[in-house]
Amino acid sequence: MKKIMIMGNWKMNLLAHDVEVLLNALLKNNLPKGIRAGIAPSYLWLAKAREMLKNSAWNLAAQNVSEHEKGAFTGEVSASMLKSIGCNYCLVGHSERRQFFAETDENVADKIQRLYHEGIVPILCVGETEQERLEGRAEEVVANQLKGALAGLPQGISLFPIAYEPVWAIGTGKHCDPQTASQMMVFIKKEISAMSQSFDLEDCLLLYGGSVKGDNIVSYLSTGQIDGALVGGASLKGPDFWAIIEAAGGYLDE
Ligand code: PGA
Repeated sequence: MKKIMIMGNWKMNLLAHDVEVLLNALLKNNLPKGIRAGIAPSYLWLAKAREMLKNSAWNLAAQNVSEHEKGAFTGEVSASMLKSIGCNYCLVGHSERRQFFAETDENVADKIQRLYHEGIVPILCVGETEQERLEGRAEEVVANQLKGALAGLPQGISLFPIAYEPVWAIGTGKHCDPQTASQMMVFIKKEISAMSQSFDLEDCLLLYGGSVKGDNIVSYLSTGQIDGALVGGASLKGPDFWAIIEAAGGYLDE
């Protein structure tokens, strides 16, 4: 059976009470069969979310992790801390981290190593800026991000989900057309297969991210190259997020 992942990235949004209201709303319904759903709240709400989600099939992701193991790194959160709180996924290399916090491919690779050692599944985000696409460099940028992030991983490991998120489509309402997104997925698969390391691609779901909503998710899934979505803005409201999950479930039932 095909698997579809829908992961909500709450970014720096929602206060304690909002988290409770939103999770209670999401928990009212059973997840459709075949849908692997999750949320990535602020670090502050991870413990609360774990508690609320404990009897459900929902996954819990962090939005970031330190590249260091432990010690004198004020304000940072380690992979082992995330593990101890029951986080099973973690976003890595989101374009906002790259753009606003100067995160490099090397940092991304180190973070992936930390997560890998703790058994937390990374969700690697890649994607080009509008300028890079206009210059015809979209594939080159994504190829470099992939090479940088996957460097140093052991041979034969099961490769984690990869989210293609064109920066110009994030939070802008300017979603990338499904054809363009699916061409990039084909390119990503080709690049990974051409790497010197060999990976098990069984769990390497390819997600699209950038202004995904309930009324466009199926257009991405039906390209046959996209295994789900990383959702920002539309994951902040129960009905909007649920509309995406329901539409993806409906697509699987077809
Ligand atoms: P968006 O964000 O859905 O608000 O465009 C996507 C993301 O940043 O992961």
